Amino acid sequence: MDDLKSHPLPSIPRSLNVRSVKREMKTFAEASALSFYKPAAHVCFWAPCYKNTMFGTYNAAVMMHLRFDGTFGFPGGLINRGEDILDGLTRELKEELAYNPAVHKPITYDDYHSSRIVEDKLLVLHLFVVELSMDQFVSLEKNATSAEEYGVEVFGTVRVPLYTMNNKYGGLPAFLNNRFIGCAKQELIMALFSIGILTDDQIDELIDNANNMKL
Ligand code: GTP
Ligand code: MN
Ligand code: MN
Ligand code: MN
Ligand code: MN
Ligand code: MN
Repeated sequence: MDDLKSHPLPSIPRSLNVRSVKREMKTFAEASALSFYKPAAHVCFWAPCYKNTMFGTYNAAVMMHLRFDGTFGFPGGLINRGEDILDGLTRELKEELAYNPAVHKPITYDDYHSSRIVEDKLLVLHLFVVELSMDQFVSLEKNATSAEEYGVEVFGTVRVPLYTMNNKYGGLPAFLNNRFIGCAKQELIMALFSIGILTDDQIDELIDNANNMKL
């Protein structure tokens, strides 16, 4: 917990390095000082893998979900008043994903990534990036429909297509043209950057390809 208080801001990809993102990003120490803000915590689960498909190759499985409101986001949710962040996050993951810390992995502050504030909603959103083994990841995917919130808050757990097809928009650029809740799209790009899956140059190209895509 002490080293979490001194946890630095992660480096932000060049293309997201705009004033608005910088203003909203907080360290854990800064975020915890905002006592008027309601905390929430979400997780980007990922696992190293190697998949060579007919559409493209990817080196990591990354999890998002389709929410009740039709947007994509990460599993997790609001922390109750007085509830510990890790306890609340674990509860939300159980509700939304049938997550079992004993089988999958206990979430710890080692997995903490960064925090964002949403001024108009008085929310402080903590992001965790959790590495699983591919076996744990696949077990989560398989269990997801048995979660109590499946069909209520959550309408599907998805694996992000992390490649760009030869036509320059199929795969990740097309996925990024979906609707995302809050800043989940930026969080996805930041997580891919922090994990080391995408470089600055690749993110620039990705965003160009996503913007150039005409449906
Ligand atoms: P209820 O149990 O129905 O209250 O929902 P919840 O506790 O699961 O909350 P939810 O996951 O919807 O998250 C709370 C708020 O955080 C939402 O209203 C969004 O504004 C925001 N949010 C939800 N998902 C994400 C996400 O993946 N990333 C970010 N940055 N914000 C999110
Ligand atoms: Mn929930
Ligand atoms: Mn939720
Ligand atoms: Mn909730
Ligand atoms: Mn609830
Ligand atoms: Mn709920």
